[in-house]
Amino acid sequence: MAGRIPEQFIDQLVSRVDIVDVIGNRVQLKKAGQNYQACCPFHNEKTPSFVVSPNKQIYKCFGCGVSGSAIKFLMEYDNMEFREVIEELAKSAGMELPDLQQGYTKPKVSSDLYEITEFCSKFFQKSLRDNGGQNNGGQNNGSENIAVHYLKQRDVSGEVAALFAIGYAPPGWDNITSQLRSQQKELIECGMAIEKESGGCYDRFRDRLMFPIRDRRGRTIAFGGRVMSDELPKYLNSPETPIFHKGRELYGLYEAIQHSRHLENILVVEGYMDVVALAQFDINNAVATLGTSTSKDHIERIFKHTEEVVFCFDGDKAGKAAAWRALENTLFAMQKGRQAKFLFVDEGDDPDTMVRRIGTEQFKALIKSAQPLSHFLFYTLLTDCDIGTLDGRSRFLEKCKPLLQQIPKGSYLDLLLEELSKLTHLKLGDADKLKSLLFSSNKKQDSQPVKAKSVGNDQQKSPIRSAIAFMMHKPSLAAYITDPDIYQSLNLPGGDLFVEMIKYLHANPNAHMGLILEHWRGSEYGSALAKLATFDHMIPDEGIEAEFNGTLGQLNSALATYEITMLERKMHQGDITLEEQQRWQQLISQR
Ligand code: UTP
Ligand code: MN
Repeated sequence: MAGRIPEQFIDQLVSRVDIVDVIGNRVQLKKAGQNYQACCPFHNEKTPSFVVSPNKQIYKCFGCGVSGSAIKFLMEYDNMEFREVIEELAKSAGMELPDLQQGYTKPKVSSDLYEITEFCSKFFQKSLRDNGGQNNGGQNNGSENIAVHYLKQRDVSGEVAALFAIGYAPPGWDNITSQLRSQQKELIECGMAIEKESGGCYDRFRDRLMFPIRDRRGRTIAFGGRVMSDELPKYLNSPETPIFHKGRELYGLYEAIQHSRHLENILVVEGYMDVVALAQFDINNAVATLGTSTSKDHIERIFKHTEEVVFCFDGDKAGKAAAWRALENTLFAMQKGRQAKFLFVDEGDDPDTMVRRIGTEQFKALIKSAQPLSHFLFYTLLTDCDIGTLDGRSRFLEKCKPLLQQIPKGSYLDLLLEELSKLTHLKLGDADKLKSLLFSSNKKQDSQPVKAKSVGNDQQKSPIRSAIAFMMHKPSLAAYITDPDIYQSLNLPGGDLFVEMIKYLHANPNAHMGLILEHWRGSEYGSALAKLATFDHMIPDEGIEAEFNGTLGQLNSALATYEITMLERKMHQGDITLEEQQRWQQLISQR
């Protein structure tokens, strides 16, 4: 993987920072025995089940199951990308990042771009405030800015305009470019200016109401600019730039998270103005995609901050189609405890006009009573199947199949199947039959579990799985195994990782659990290891060693059986050496 920060550097960094400091700077920790405790910052709770272990250098929550190293904590808590976390930690630890230019394919984002977009945002806000700027040709009192006039006309309060940093790009081709003459290249790169064929550049946004789009950390990364007349396009958006990827960002997410870290739900609406109007009416949890349909990236991002998403779309054909696409991209994320709902506003309305008309309380009531995903899913598919007939029923099930197959196995899917069996008038308890019917073609896939699955998700605690977990909890155990390669021949699920981990621990004898998690995070084993980190073995620290040795005993006995079988095969084939015969005898006598 070209351009990655060298693992050695990350290992060094992780061993230098103390997770207690990192988390303690953000969450109030209380000492509890060897560990520290707090109410989990990732889910709502009243009694603390979030534990930080200075010995293992990990955090884990016994309530919601999150766990990881200092790096993972920062990624989740501060909404930072991996690189950003490394950069920030390195800075605070006084370490210099190795030169990444070599072979680094992703263009390095100059921090200048953020400075430029921030500068523009400030400038647009100032232009909005400046009285006597461009006035509205006598339609107002002459001292009022045309954009202010427009906002007033649409009943947007000054407070909410300030909250969303709404601004105004005055008419003219060089309001921005003339101020940043020496940074033309960057201006073009971050989409604020357009390059002229004859050289030079001009302002992209002119005479528009400006909505800054902020990333999850509050940095301005792009803009949407609305005309205040009937001109087209109504909205002009920043193009894709190194700091702005339309398919991933959500307008209003930063503001929503600022408002509250624990959001009961997040509403997905279609327009900038919807987000702003809802906030004005004290509904501070709306986000909008930026003229694109809701993507899986969006959904993943949303579920990082809440357990429930409510799509609030137009009730017309286009709105229904957008909702359906959103549904298709939400299925993969429907794990236990999560909810997705759909609310369709009346034709001719949008959430902006609607909340102004019916008010906060009624709008909130509508959100509460929004259609659950299952309802929207089944009833959309039912529209052209007559389930009164056998034929219609099977057609309906066929249509459900590819969609249901995208939902992760678990209680959410089970509930849906339960509903489906009722709908198709199957007898109670037939949900299981339905399940095997719907997932029958998946059998083959299931019988070839991916490695990650076989390490962590196995319900039974296989010796390999237990041994890995014990080593994570007590890395010094790895020293007991001098020749890890012999275990490879067992070909057991998870065996590769077992061997890899022992070698890693031999090379890094001081590694702790945080380092181990970090080393494999993002790899095929990452999520399995995260699960094993919270694996409650119920064994006191002093007992781990004995348990580990017991587990090794099981593995060694499997190994011996394997060797005996191999030797006996040779014996039958008649090509066994004297040495091998002695070895066989030795193995047999130990049984
Ligand atoms: P809407 O037209 O519903 O936007 O488009 P809105 O926010 O309700 O605008 P108002 O109320 O007329 O001021 C929904 C979204 O689609 C994108 C924008 O992101 C907009 O908020 N869009 C729309 C564009 O990108 N360009 C356009 O020309 C129109
Ligand atoms: Mn609108």
